[in-house]
Amino acid sequence: MPDLAYLNGKIMPIEKAMVPIEDRGYQFGDGVYEFVASYEGRLFMLEEHLDRLERSMRELSYDPIPRESIRQAIVDLLKQSGYPRAGIYIQISRGIAARNHAFTSGMAPQVVMTIRPVKELPEELRIKGAAAITVRDTRWGRCDTKTVQLLSNSLAKQKALDEGCDDAIFISNQDIVREGTSSNLFIVVDEKLFTHPLTPNILPGITRLAILQICQSIGLQVQESFFETAKLYGADEVFLTGTVTEVLPIVSVDGKPIGEGTVGPIARRLYALLRERALA
Ligand code: PDD
Repeated sequence: MPDLAYLNGKIMPIEKAMVPIEDRGYQFGDGVYEFVASYEGRLFMLEEHLDRLERSMRELSYDPIPRESIRQAIVDLLKQSGYPRAGIYIQISRGIAARNHAFTSGMAPQVVMTIRPVKELPEELRIKGAAAITVRDTRWGRCDTKTVQLLSNSLAKQKALDEGCDDAIFISNQDIVREGTSSNLFIVVDEKLFTHPLTPNILPGITRLAILQICQSIGLQVQESFFETAKLYGADEVFLTGTVTEVLPIVSVDGKPIGEGTVGPIARRLYALLRERALA
């Protein structure tokens, strides 16, 4: 089965799907997106992803699209692909119009999706843990809306790879630890978890939410509060969370080992519990 695309109501092979050059997503980065994954043919936390997509569209004043039509397209794509472990990318742009910074009236939002098998992280990375660098957070002030403006994220990720590391962690001008390039971040200090609170400066991750729910169910304390780089370096454990990342332990930051420099017990346990929940 080829990888498939959905384009405004039609499903087709991915290489057949084209968008017009005056799509505002292309010219202005005026698009929002989601990435949702399936486990054994079942979509994980789909309703939460749809909630966030609707919120992103609302925040940017897009003309609304019936939620049911988006949900149906996702389900149809998954079914037609036959992929048990699929990654579905959903992108909605404001519409197509002659280039103009201001919005043109009468534009219809453009809905594009692709489906491919999830590119799993290497097992070795999960066992040994990942290395991260810190980078200045140069992103705009509305990182809580999931827009396609990902140049800062992309440059930071590439910088990490060029330096022989796996990912980058954004740090604000005031030295606040924000999140990874496509993941949220948690630290563990004395068996207590800390993560950035939900503000316009980070994405409200669905996996972050799942981890908060799991922690509550097993009595692990989590504090949603700001913390600085010194606390990150001195943590017992650091891990990233995301739809593809799931729970990824970070065992070094800027070349400094975190804890013992090996995968910690809390990250390992939360990864197992997240998988269990996704496969339940
Ligand atoms: N990224 N923070 C950022 C900046 C992200 O881009 C993402 C997800 C997350 C984690 O969110 P979630 O748990 O809902 O996946 C946090 C997706 C996977 C992407 O860009 O493809």
